[in-house]
Amino acid sequence: MKSTGILGVGHAVPERKLTNADLEKMVDTSDEWITTRTGIKERRIADPGIAASDLAAAAAQEALERARMSPSEIDLIIVATVTGDYVFPSTACLVQDRLGIPNAAAYDLAAGCSGFVYALDQAWHGVRSGAYGAALVIGVDVLSRITDWQDRSTCVLFGDGAGAVVVGPVRDGFGVLATYLGSDGSGASKLYIPAGGSRQPLTPETLTAREQYIRMCGNDVFKFAVRVMEDATLEVLRRAGLTSGDVNLFVPHQANIRIIDAAARRLGIDWDRIVVNVDRYGNTSAASIPLALSEALQAGRIKAGDYIVCVGFGAGLTWGAAAMRWDGREAYR
Ligand code: ACO
Repeated sequence: MKSTGILGVGHAVPERKLTNADLEKMVDTSDEWITTRTGIKERRIADPGIAASDLAAAAAQEALERARMSPSEIDLIIVATVTGDYVFPSTACLVQDRLGIPNAAAYDLAAGCSGFVYALDQAWHGVRSGAYGAALVIGVDVLSRITDWQDRSTCVLFGDGAGAVVVGPVRDGFGVLATYLGSDGSGASKLYIPAGGSRQPLTPETLTAREQYIRMCGNDVFKFAVRVMEDATLEVLRRAGLTSGDVNLFVPHQANIRIIDAAARRLGIDWDRIVVNVDRYGNTSAASIPLALSEALQAGRIKAGDYIVCVGFGAGLTWGAAAMRWDGREAYR
């Protein structure tokens, strides 16, 4: 097995900001409620005409540049998303064409906010086994298109964005050390979109009932999230032969500052080892972890040899964690 890890990271977010003050004018909420319950101050919203593949391609382009690699070196593209441009074809195929990546295997993967870690796991196995030379892993979501802007319990939480990584061979002992993925489909209805799939196709009635938008049992998801953030982190650390004391940087899914805080307390990880940008982007679903990773790198918070843990949870219900040792031979040296 070849040592395999991240060679470059990039991200892209829409320019338009939606602040808590803006939301106060749209639904019965307040900056005070949103800030204290979620930690979110603003989020980015894609303009009409901007779709998942646009953000995905921009993030992937930056990741390739940071890795100093050309599109022709990529032979696998995995896009984690629940808001692809179309039901089919996959957004991965649109990115393949947009970036001129010749003949790469390309597919989308749906695991909600855990999607990026799921896709990283797939790419890691594919490259380390020798089946692929290098992979592009993209987490992208345009949740604003599936958000009910009349539902104050969900519309304050979400934002749009993309993050991407190039996965390829690294020095021995570096790169991804372990992953851990899981699911519990008995919680499917805790976080889902009732209509628009094969169980309940869109009809005038489902549209009137606003069933094309996200439905969530916030409290149940909150409790689940705190539990699996701790459990998944401990399991991936065990698989990697590490303890939480070894972790230089913890990159959690950015859903709610209280979830991050509760998980960090349970794990004994202090704030200066945690990446937080939920205040500026809200929950960007599959984009959240690579977006946070990309910003941490650009801010100089990661150096060669650092141990990093990424952990996410999301619709499914799903969870996933990855532990890695940063090679550091990419553009951020
Ligand atoms: N503004 C003002 N009041 C609100 C708002 C709002 N935006 N939203 C809800 N409230 C009210 C509720 O109606 C409720 O009022 P009531 O007591 O009169 O009934 C009260 O605030 C408390 O509501 P709770 O739901 O108990 O609030 P809670 O503290 O649990 O916070 C939240 C809600 C933020 C949604 C929290 O449960 C949470 O973060 N859950 C996890 C969500 C999550 O991470 N989802 C993403 C998963 S990843 C993916 O795959 C997309």
